[in-house]
Amino acid sequence: MTRTLILDSAVTGEASVSKRLTAAFADELRRRDPKVQIVSRDLGANPVPHLLPETVAGIRATATTEAEKAALALSDELVDELRETDLLVIGAPMYNFGIPSALKTWFDYILRAGVTFRYTENGPEGLLPVKKAVVIETRGGLYSEGPAVAMDSQEPHLRTLLGFMGVNDVIFVRAEKLGFGPEAVQEAVDGAIAELNGCAEKELALAA
Ligand SMILES: Cc1cc2nc3c(=O)[nH]c(=O)nc-3n(C[C@H](O)[C@H](O)[C@H](O)COP(=O)(O)O)c2cc1C
Repeated sequence: MTRTLILDSAVTGEASVSKRLTAAFADELRRRDPKVQIVSRDLGANPVPHLLPETVAGIRATATTEAEKAALALSDELVDELRETDLLVIGAPMYNFGIPSALKTWFDYILRAGVTFRYTENGPEGLLPVKKAVVIETRGGLYSEGPAVAMDSQEPHLRTLLGFMGVNDVIFVRAEKLGFGPEAVQEAVDGAIAELNGCAEKELALAA
């Protein structure tokens, strides 16, 4: 049974394409294995609070004040969720060439030296059981080829963040040109769903 955590981070609610795609992937996983365990966290609708001068020491140093202890408790909750995860699915829209701030803040809470990764002679080493990530990227424009490739601060950033967690096996599924009209949206969504359906079988074997 593959333990799956789905993180959404769009702030576009019902109109969100990335949420439509994470939901379609969850449906496909359930269709193939009714026993698949899926936990969902919507960081767009229920964001974790940005780190502040009052809270950051709770995660990066020692929690002494009530605010720092609350930040540490939230971080522990998010890390515990990952300790129960084989497959991490991230719905990651491109906002201003990068990831939504809600998703970045989630990483600020879960990337903790000595807890979720450690530094070794060979570089950072992940301490979580997460075996694989499927990242669904939605974009108004085209960044996987052509002149805007260099402006993509979304995919390289996610690859680095996931690599620090020790998750180097990452599939990026992109729905691009979503700002090019309804036909382009349909084409991008259909293509992404076909890709996701294609990888669902393999992901379900993760816990085997
Ligand atoms: C605040 C904001 C910033 C955006 N910035 C970009 C951008 O830099 N490049 C781009 O191609 N699309 C950009 N878009 C378009 C989104 O990537 C596109 O609408 C995509 O569908 C967002 O995913 P979602 O539908 O799940 O929210 C932006 C959209 C929003 C709401």
